[in-house]
Amino acid sequence: MELKILVLPGDGIGPEVTREAVRVLEHVADKWGHALTLREGLLGGAAIHAARTPFPDETKALALETDATLLGAVGLPEFDELPPSQRPEKGLLDIRKALDVYANLRPVQAYESLLESSPLKNAIVRGTDILIVRELTGGLYFGQPRGISGSGAGETAVNSMVYRRSEIERVGRMAFDLARKRGKRLTSVDKANVLENSQLWRRTMTRLAADYPDVALDHLLVDNCAMQLILRPSSFDVLVTENLFGDILSDEASVLAGSIGMLPSASIGKRLPNGVWRGLYEPVHGSAPDIAGQGKANPLAAIGSAAAMLQYSFGLLEEAAAVEAAVRRTLAAGRVTADLKPAGEPATTEQVGQAVRNAIDPPRAARG
Ligand code: IPM
Ligand code: MG
Repeated sequence: MELKILVLPGDGIGPEVTREAVRVLEHVADKWGHALTLREGLLGGAAIHAARTPFPDETKALALETDATLLGAVGLPEFDELPPSQRPEKGLLDIRKALDVYANLRPVQAYESLLESSPLKNAIVRGTDILIVRELTGGLYFGQPRGISGSGAGETAVNSMVYRRSEIERVGRMAFDLARKRGKRLTSVDKANVLENSQLWRRTMTRLAADYPDVALDHLLVDNCAMQLILRPSSFDVLVTENLFGDILSDEASVLAGSIGMLPSASIGKRLPNGVWRGLYEPVHGSAPDIAGQGKANPLAAIGSAAAMLQYSFGLLEEAAAVEAAVRRTLAAGRVTADLKPAGEPATTEQVGQAVRNAIDPPRAARG
């Protein structure tokens, strides 16, 4: 199979973690006999430096002609004082919108070998396996009107939480379909006791449930959900929620996995004419400029995102499973970076990447 991939390393630790993810993809392509075509582009602060915009037209064109994009992270402290429209993060929001990847899949797993890395009690975290489906191209992130006007005590800031029913339906269907392939339980998260927006969300999810009689749907208010995620994480299967709630809950849920350096994500939307799902794959973590370039960053979220790309965009289930199994073996062997609080000396970003590659089983045919 031909795998056409755009790599956007971005800022901070983005380049070093994507390097390891790309090496894993090269290793898989080599072992399974796929042709890998890699392009590289600019996004975020790196793009502002080189092209004075966080999402250059060239990057957009590349992303639209490639099947899947692997992204590192964006954001740099030097841009902290700028308005949202001029920050590196705008590049990330723009590419999500340009690719129309409305469903952001964020799996959260508590690996047995990482239970001690979480500050929560083992008995609570054990067995956790959640898929958060975050709506990614609507809500407060994109709603109009927005902006700051006036001055003095009257200076006023406005953001708008806007969802059309069709936007809720498409991400809702995606979540129901995914729940159907997993534990058949879907929790929809909203703030329907306060927001009209959430009332439409809840009504739409309830209506969709009629098409999925085999999936059990329940609803949680977002504040309660934040608490239940810590009280009884292993009882959840698939969570679906709007953009900002999903952003917040997924960072919280990373505590269950031991470190935010463990969380991969897959953003998907439409299927292309060649049968491939166009997707954007990025770690949930940020650019962590404080540890950039020191070999301390955990590459497993980026490597997990590459595995998700193999799975969702290219349908290469065996290859994706082999990468995931290799990650599990690497964790069990204690080859982890400092964020996971290893008992001994932490491994470097490169050493973890190397350990994952070593642990990938070749396919049966190649094994002879
Ligand atoms: C994420 C990040 C982004 C978001 C930022 C960097 C714009 O926090 O992917 O979760 O808020 O979506
Ligand atoms: Mg976030």
